[in-house]
Order: sequence, then structure tokens, then C-alpha cells
Amino acid sequence: MTAIRSVVLGCGSYLPQKVLTNAELATRVDTSDEWIVQRTGIRQRHIAAEDEFTSHLAIHAANAALAHAGIDAQSIDLIVLATSTPDNTFPATAVTVQSGLGIVRGAAFDLQAVCSGFVFALATADNFLRAGAFKRALVIGAETFSRILDWTDRGTCVLFGDGAGAVVLEAQKQPGKPSDRGILTTHLRSDGRHRSKLYVDGGPSSTQTVGYLRMEGREVFKHAVGMITDVIVDAFNASGTSADDIDWFVPHQANKRIIDASAHKLHIAPEKVVLTVDRHGNTSAASIPLALSVAVADGRIKRGDLILLEAMGGGFTWGSVLLRW
Ligand code: ACO
Repeated sequence: MTAIRSVVLGCGSYLPQKVLTNAELATRVDTSDEWIVQRTGIRQRHIAAEDEFTSHLAIHAANAALAHAGIDAQSIDLIVLATSTPDNTFPATAVTVQSGLGIVRGAAFDLQAVCSGFVFALATADNFLRAGAFKRALVIGAETFSRILDWTDRGTCVLFGDGAGAVVLEAQKQPGKPSDRGILTTHLRSDGRHRSKLYVDGGPSSTQTVGYLRMEGREVFKHAVGMITDVIVDAFNASGTSADDIDWFVPHQANKRIIDASAHKLHIAPEKVVLTVDRHGNTSAASIPLALSVAVADGRIKRGDLILLEAMGGGFTWGSVLLRW
């Protein structure tokens, strides 16, 4: 019995040049390096230049992923771009990326699930590829959260950063076994009752403004670990795997304390956890592909490794992806 699987051909990322350290932030708002590191693990974040948009970051990351995969942009027939900070309300940033890559066929669209965006985008592309609708997909997470931060609110502005990451997926026939390469299982959830705990206070339909990010940090923290671990247990149950089988845990990089607590609860060994939140901050939908790119580039993630991804974010939305590299 064979199965069509979405196999990762390559990944890539891009970070804006400007680095904003905690010390520099402490000159703008009443905070300190010590407070930020202790509560979040974040030491610095990258900030896009004024003329650098989400699509620019995404195109850099996409080109890096295509080069890493060793394939031509023309062979891509699907682009799913996860972002909460599009260049414009419409058209989708994905079509700007499509045109920037010189692609004139297939489909390109944005997907909005805030920090869970990349996990939702991977699951979406995987379903299209396994259904035979498309053959090769670029799945991108790209954000310029610096544009929607209230830089006078120390409770939120210290947490986020800008960046982009991308993976190339290809539909491939695999033996249909747990040892298959590619995406093995995906699990997505949402619960809109929590929508006012992490939101942006503006939008085209409600205020005709872009708005700023607002968050009840403690409430988010309270729900995060339970939601994350639930959806990972779903992935273990669906695939007949356990924490011991995982080679690398690549979580959404929101906060080191949330990541540590989730890994601890699931009995995932600390040395299997890929952490980039210290250098990147929370880049929302971009954080997982950014972390994947780091761990691939430094030689940790290798072909055949079993990788567990998870994310939780505004909505609330949350989800997991289990894949073999
Ligand atoms: N610097 C110094 N002091 C601060 C700062 C800051 N940057 N921000 C808040 N404080 C103060 C508060 O004003 C408060 O002071 P008070 O006691 O005098 O009123 C005190 O620190 C404690 O504030 P809390 O908000 O209760 O601090 P908490 O320990 O909960 O830490 C944090 C805040 C880091 C935001 C935490 O709640 C958290 O990590 N929440 C998860 C949120 C998150 O990661 N969101 C990312 C988006 S969602 C996602 O991606 C999963």
C-alpha cells in the first residue's frame, strides 16, 4: 500500500539586517534586559527597514528555500503564505511573492492563523498535495510584526520581531509506512471564545485602520501549555509514535518558558528542542520555518529525522505537524 506524502525538498529563511537588543529597547520603554530574558528568554529581535515589506522578506526566504531544494521557481504550482501582517489588505501578499518569483501558473493565497499560521499553512498545502491538486508547494511564514506593535506598551513590544521562513514541499509516492518521508500527520484546532485575549484593535471592516496588537499575556500563558500538549498527544496517537521517537522538536518560538514547560510535560529531552527565540523573538508565523532553517543549516536536522512542529496563537488557534525530513 503506497501513500502520497508531502516531502520537504528544502527550506530557507531571511532576517532583516537591523537587530534590536533588549538594552536598546530599555532606552525606549520602562523595561530591562534582565526582565525580558527571565520572563521570555528573548535577547534580541530583527526589525524590517522602513522600505522592507512582508513580501520582500518572504521572497528572500522563498529564494533561499528554492536554492536549498535545488529546484527552479517555475516548477512551483502552489504558494501558501501565512501572515498576519500582509503588505496590503488585498491582494494577498502571496501573489506579490508569486510575481516576484516570476511564477505565472498555479495558485497563491494568504492564510491567517496568527502564530499558528505556518502549521495551518503546512496542513493546507499537505492536503492539496495529497489530493493531487498540486505537485510542488512553497509554504511561507512571513511577518513584519514591528508594524503592528504599540511601541509604548512594554507588555507586548518586547516580545515580537520580523522575519520570514519557507519550505518547499513535493507530492511523492512513499511506501505508506511510518518510516515514510514527508508529512505524516497534522492536527489543527481553534476556539474563538478566546479571540479577545490576543488581537489587533483595528481592521478594514471595523475601524478602517490597521490597529495595534493587544494581549492579556497571563491568559495566553495559562492556556498555551495545555493546548500545545493536547495537539501533540493527538499527533503521537495518530502516528503511533511517542516523545522518544522524536529527533527534533521545533516549536513556535513565543516564549522560552512556554517551550520548556511543554517539552517537560511531554517528556521531550531538552537537547532535542530547537530554540531560536533568544535571537529572533516571536516572529509569529515565521518562527517555525526560521528555526527549521537554523537547525538544518547547522547540521542538526538531517534527512530521515522525525520532526515535531507545534504552534499556538491568537484566536486561539493551535496545531501540530509530525514529519520525517
Ligand atoms: N518590562 C518590565 N516589566 C514589565 C514588562 C516589561 N517588558 N511587561 C510587563 N511588566 C510588568 C507588569 O507591568 C507587571 O507589573 P506590576 O506587577 O507592577 O503590575 C509585572 O511586570 C508582571 O506583569 P505580567 O504581565 O503579569 O507578567 P508575566 O509574568 O505574566 O509576564 C509575559 C508577561 C512575558 C507577557 C507572559 O505573560 C507571557 O509570556 N505570556 C505569554 C504571551 C506570549 O508569549 N505571547 C506571544 C503571542 S501568543 C503566542 O505566540 C503563543
